[in-house]
Amino acid sequence: MKIAMGNDHSAVEMKREIREYLEAKGYEVVDFGTNETASCDYPVYGEKVGRAVAAGEADLGILICGTGVGISLAANKVKGIRACVCSEPYSAKLSRMHNNTNILAFGARVVGAELAKMIVDAWIEAEFEGGRHQRRVDMIMDIEGR
Ligand code: RB5
Repeated sequence: MKIAMGNDHSAVEMKREIREYLEAKGYEVVDFGTNETASCDYPVYGEKVGRAVAAGEADLGILICGTGVGISLAANKVKGIRACVCSEPYSAKLSRMHNNTNILAFGARVVGAELAKMIVDAWIEAEFEGGRHQRRVDMIMDIEGR
């Protein structure tokens, strides 16, 4: 599985730790940056990862900024993206099972690295249940076309 990652200046160290964690588990990670701690604009990285996932260049995406909020908002503007901010594993897991999210976001200033790893594991390992949830996800995606 190929995972695209992106972050702003507030999450360089968190991104590195999560990237290494995923690579150690055998996932292929495409890192869209930033790898600089100088202040930068999170929409740039949210859009890059959003476009990579929407184009099928990556299976899933993980975005990290200070809160996870701004970078997920940017990714959600890309057609085909369902990004969510999760600060605990339960919502992360259910966001895939019920909402078929394709990007996970979280805040480097909100969660510690060990909790972030639990959130990432819960999200990646969960599977979309389809059925009634497919209809609701279709309804969400239909909004993009109107
Ligand atoms: C950057 O200071 C901060 O605004 C950003 O990382 C993020 O939290 C925005 O949603």
